[in-house]
Amino acid sequence: MKKEKFGSVQGNAVTLYTLTNSNGLEVRATNFGGIIVSVRTPDKQGRMDDIVLGFDDLQGYLDNKPYFGAIIGRYANRIAAARFTLDGVQYSLAANNGPNSLHGGIKGFNKVVWSAEPFENSTGVGLIFTYTSKDGEEGYPGNLRAKVTYTLTDQNELTFDYEAMTDKATPVNLTQHSYFNLAGDGRGDILGHELTLNADRFTPVDKNLIPTGELRAVKNSPLDFTKSTRIGSRINDKDEQLVLGHGYDHNFVIHRTDPGPVLAAHLREPQTGRVLDVYTTEPGVQFYSGNFLDGTITGKQGHVYKQRFGLALEPQHFPDSPNHPEFPSTILRPGQVYQSRTVYKFSVEK
Ligand code: GLA
Repeated sequence: MKKEKFGSVQGNAVTLYTLTNSNGLEVRATNFGGIIVSVRTPDKQGRMDDIVLGFDDLQGYLDNKPYFGAIIGRYANRIAAARFTLDGVQYSLAANNGPNSLHGGIKGFNKVVWSAEPFENSTGVGLIFTYTSKDGEEGYPGNLRAKVTYTLTDQNELTFDYEAMTDKATPVNLTQHSYFNLAGDGRGDILGHELTLNADRFTPVDKNLIPTGELRAVKNSPLDFTKSTRIGSRINDKDEQLVLGHGYDHNFVIHRTDPGPVLAAHLREPQTGRVLDVYTTEPGVQFYSGNFLDGTITGKQGHVYKQRFGLALEPQHFPDSPNHPEFPSTILRPGQVYQSRTVYKFSVEK
């Protein structure tokens, strides 16, 4: 494993790690926000390219409004009106997304310097990131000890194992926010990618992108990805949900057959043959088609990120679960261990 200096944040050294597997797949990640900086995989001709959006240097990630590549916590996605009530106590969070709290607040897990411990074992090469979020940080109760393990295996999988423990009850919903473009970073939009989601329901949203509470069937709507479909084929339909989301920005309810990781999403880019399969233990996956990218961000190698130049598939619990007792619970209590696993598997289809 290669280790390089990537700069420093408020006096804390930031390192860039390069993980490589026996097939030459290469993942670079940093302990600032646990950010995945690059993922290089072959296409059907064996040509390697970087398939995630991001920046060339640490400076770019300090702002990073789109959350490129980062670990998201304590609570991925939105909490309505930036507040929730837990065990009779109301907690207030910063409103950093209209009236909502988004992705853990102003300084979420994407903006903190994690401790990193590289490892190599029989399953692969990886990094163990740890971070303790203090009681009251960003308005959340309890000291939360979080541990996220990234492993690159020789089966061309990048796995994420999340663990957390708390000393007071708190909501926890951790995810990874890499933006993929399987044609190669900066090559164009992702509208030609073909997506299958293992989900026959989704959580419809209101104008603030907060779930209404309904679990709605995707059938007969442009949110039906139960069969492989080009992302661009219906994205501009005058469908109420697509209008509210400015495209796809929805949590899909994964069809679960067992508690272990199940296939949530299958993404294929027809020109290069690159495929990404997402497996997870989470109940939902947020499919975000990069709608808010607007050409104002210049990323790696001068690439200008225009609308829909990347997409995210974020395994997670449903948005705003702390305010929706009918959703699977996101509350972690003292003595319990939060555990979650996601696998990104890379391959090519000729
Ligand atoms: C998530 C949300 C989107 C957007 C991005 C960050 O994926 O669902 O609405 O906020 O993060 O830009």
